[in-house]
Amino acid sequence: MNENLVIQTLLNRRSIRKFKSKEVSKVDMESIVNAGQRAPTGTMFQAYSFINISDPRIKEEIIQIILTFASKKEGRWWQVMETAPLWILICVDFARQEKIFEILNLDIELGPLDKLVRGLIDANLAAENMVIAAESLGLGSCFVGYPKRISGELVESLGLPESVFPFLLLCIGYPDEDPSIKTRLPINAVLHENGYQAPSEKLLKSYYESSYGSLDKVGSSWGFNFPLEATRWREQKLRKDIKSMGLLNG
Ligand SMILES: Cc1cc2nc3c(=O)[nH]c(=O)nc-3n(C[C@H](O)[C@H](O)[C@H](O)COP(=O)(O)O)c2cc1C
Repeated sequence: MNENLVIQTLLNRRSIRKFKSKEVSKVDMESIVNAGQRAPTGTMFQAYSFINISDPRIKEEIIQIILTFASKKEGRWWQVMETAPLWILICVDFARQEKIFEILNLDIELGPLDKLVRGLIDANLAAENMVIAAESLGLGSCFVGYPKRISGELVESLGLPESVFPFLLLCIGYPDEDPSIKTRLPINAVLHENGYQAPSEKLLKSYYESSYGSLDKVGSSWGFNFPLEATRWREQKLRKDIKSMGLLNG
């Protein structure tokens, strides 16, 4: 086992969903965002913005928007938002880059889909840097993926400009729980050499059986979360919202 501290921090990380009420200091918050900014970024576009949602009224408004869309059957996966003192909304942002093109009088036009993909890569790399930075400061964190389903509503309620796509919330705070570390697939299922070596059925079954207790449990949990009707709705909503931001055409 590698004793390197950074690797140990990465290997011991797990999502935290219950936080103490202690606030995260401004210095720590800014260090976390700085660490996010240090992530590699394609063509130096830095195609992201991070919104610190600190106003309790806006937090409540966002929870209410989620509750108008999320099926009650979906469980209380958003509960993590209730105790997290620090909310950082991760956005794809090409508005700033387009402004810079304009200031420099550059006649550069990027395709909407290219902007979206570039922005998602940049923003996700930065987001994970923030997770690790938070962890290294003794904080815990958890992503909430629902913002991508209500991105149109978030754009409106936060007054975001065109080409900004809020898609992921990072909740951070001091851990008030000590969950166990979740297993991952064995390395030979995800690491390939010079091509693609599909993992055997036996390997997949044995991993999912040992992680979830039984294969039935895995299947029913995914089947429950992805009924066809919900999938159709999610696809349509996402397409409509992203198109309205100018980050997808067709
Ligand atoms: C894009 C994304 C969205 C997520 N959304 C949620 C969420 O809405 N609620 C939640 O409790 N956890 C959420 N998570 C956390 C995952 O459930 C968690 O990372 C996964 O179960 C593995 O557990 P671990 O992070 O403890 O290793 C999300 C993670 C990612 C990467």
